[in-house]
Amino acid sequence: MKHATKLYETVSALMAPGKGILAADESDATAGKRLAMVHLPNEPEHRQDFRELLFTAPGIEEYLSGVIMYDSSIKNFTDDGIPFPDVLTAKGILPGIKVDLGTKDLHGFKGEVVTEGLDGLDNRLTEYYELGARFAKWRAVIVIDEDKLPTTESLEMNAVQLARYAQLCQAAGIVPMVEPEVLYAGDHDIARAEMVTTRTLQILFHTLIKYKVDLRGLILKSSMVLAGDMYPEQSSPSEIANATLRTFHMSVPHEVGGIVFLSGGQTPKRATENLNAIAGIGEQPWPITFSYSRALEEPVLLTWQGKPENIPEAQKMLLHAVMMNGLASQGQYDASKDSKLK
Ligand code: G3H
Repeated sequence: MKHATKLYETVSALMAPGKGILAADESDATAGKRLAMVHLPNEPEHRQDFRELLFTAPGIEEYLSGVIMYDSSIKNFTDDGIPFPDVLTAKGILPGIKVDLGTKDLHGFKGEVVTEGLDGLDNRLTEYYELGARFAKWRAVIVIDEDKLPTTESLEMNAVQLARYAQLCQAAGIVPMVEPEVLYAGDHDIARAEMVTTRTLQILFHTLIKYKVDLRGLILKSSMVLAGDMYPEQSSPSEIANATLRTFHMSVPHEVGGIVFLSGGQTPKRATENLNAIAGIGEQPWPITFSYSRALEEPVLLTWQGKPENIPEAQKMLLHAVMMNGLASQGQYDASKDSKLK
């Protein structure tokens, strides 16, 4: 393949030991939900203020290898007129871009969805590459319940879309991050989450191989294997770590460039503790780290409160969150000594 070496170099930079990825790639509508936490209206200037706070935070480059942006933020600037991707590149952080356009009903399959965004994607990727993006993200949403969902049809349909997206990214010299998010929402137990995640990933990798996607030049973004948020008993970090790694060993080919986790609605502390337990089990065939949005952004938002005078403290909170997760990615996080992440 034309860009293979470039793709492998990007994968290895993104998966650098002790570092992870910030997913600051909320669509404009979802960014509004984040701003609502601090009672700010969903206006472009508030979205810009929050992204500028995040991207210019001193020291984050020690623990962040990449940041994922959205179309409106990769084209945005700091107050001083510096394009956001240039701010990141100057720090040695790789800019990334969410390229899917969200989900739509999978007609005939009640409650299930398929992700859109393939039309014109090759042109958009060329434009994003010129803006500095070196990796991309596409999120498929896998709805889970105790017995019926997801259907095989929804897993197959989403896998085909992910495979086509991955092909187009690799042809453009951009590393695809493929994200089949098995939702945390629900009242299923952890055994059900393990079975569904394993099957989701088996179908996904079967499809990626069938469509000749280069697995070394690709990163998997996965959910951790968790009982649903409404299930009465939440599992321990060690149970979660074992279930998650069993799932990967049953489904993820060893040549895959790396695995990163979404936080999925877990509290920041829980996401960090669970990553730490996963890393604590020892070396795996793939490098593994974090690519959180909410678990990194929530503590920052709550410190910031939309007030300019709180920016330095909020930036320190981001540095703390990425540092703790950097430690967790190496199994070196001590939750008992961390009073800041809740
Ligand atoms: O697509 C999901 C995001 O990239 C990660 O978000 O950590 O809030 O689940 P999350």
